[in-house]
Amino acid sequence: MKITHDTIERKTGLLIALVIFVVSIGGLVEIVPLFFQKNLIEPVAGLKPYDPLRLVGRDIYVREGCYNCHSQMIRPFRAETERYGPYSVAGEFVYDRPFQWGSKRTGPDLARVGGRYSDDWHRLHLDNPRAVVPDSNMPRYDFLDRPITGPSVNRRMKVLKTLGHPYSDEEIANAESVIKDKTELDALIAYLQGLGIQIKASKGQS
Ligand code: HEC
Repeated sequence: MKITHDTIERKTGLLIALVIFVVSIGGLVEIVPLFFQKNLIEPVAGLKPYDPLRLVGRDIYVREGCYNCHSQMIRPFRAETERYGPYSVAGEFVYDRPFQWGSKRTGPDLARVGGRYSDDWHRLHLDNPRAVVPDSNMPRYDFLDRPITGPSVNRRMKVLKTLGHPYSDEEIANAESVIKDKTELDALIAYLQGLGIQIKASKGQS
C-alpha cells in the first residue's frame, strides 16, 4: 500500500504510530546522551557508597517519610546557594537509590546539612524539635532510640553491589558487626551527618 498524506490523516492508528515514532526520536536524542555524559554518571571526588550504618539511616529516613517535608537538592540560584551552600550536582547522587531530591520544602533543604550541627543537637532535635527551635512544626521522632530491625544490612549491600556500588566482600561480611548495638537514632544521625560533605569539603564551587 502506498502511504500518502491522505492515508495517514484518515487512518488514526497509523497516525498515532507515526507520531509516537517521530516523538520518540526526539526523546532518545535528548535522553540517551545523558547515560554517557561523564559529569552525570561519575561520582564526585571523595564520594563513597553508604557505609552500613548510614545505609540503615538512609532507609529509616525514607521509612519515616522525612522527604515529605525536606528536599535534598540545592538549585543553582543565589538565594539557595547563600542559604544552603554549593548547589547540588548529579555526581553526588550516584549511590542514592532511590534519590531524595524532591521539591517539597516544609522544612529546609537537607542536601548539605552534614556537619552543620553536632550529633547531640540532632539527638535533641529529633527527640523534640521544639527543644531547640521553639517555632518548629516538625514532628517528634522520640521513638527512634531503639535497636535497628528490618532486613539484614548485608543483604541490602549485596543487592546494591549488583547495581554497581563498589562494596568489597569484606565490607559486606563485616556489615552486621558495624551496626551491632547501634540504635535507629544513631543510624539516622550518621546519615544526616554525611549529607553533602564531599563538595562542601573540596569547595568545588559556590
Ligand atoms: C511535617 C514536616 C516535617 C517532617 C515530616 C520532618 N521535618 Fe525536619 N524540619 C521541618 C521543619 C519545619 C524544620 C525547620 C525547623 C526546625 O529546625 O525544627 C525542620 C528542620 C530539620 C532539620 C534542621 C535543618 C537545618 O538546616 O536547620 C533537620 C536535620 C531535619 N529537620 C531532619 C528531619 C528528619 C531526619 C526527618 C524524618 C525523620 C524530618 N526532619 C521530618 C519539618 C519536617
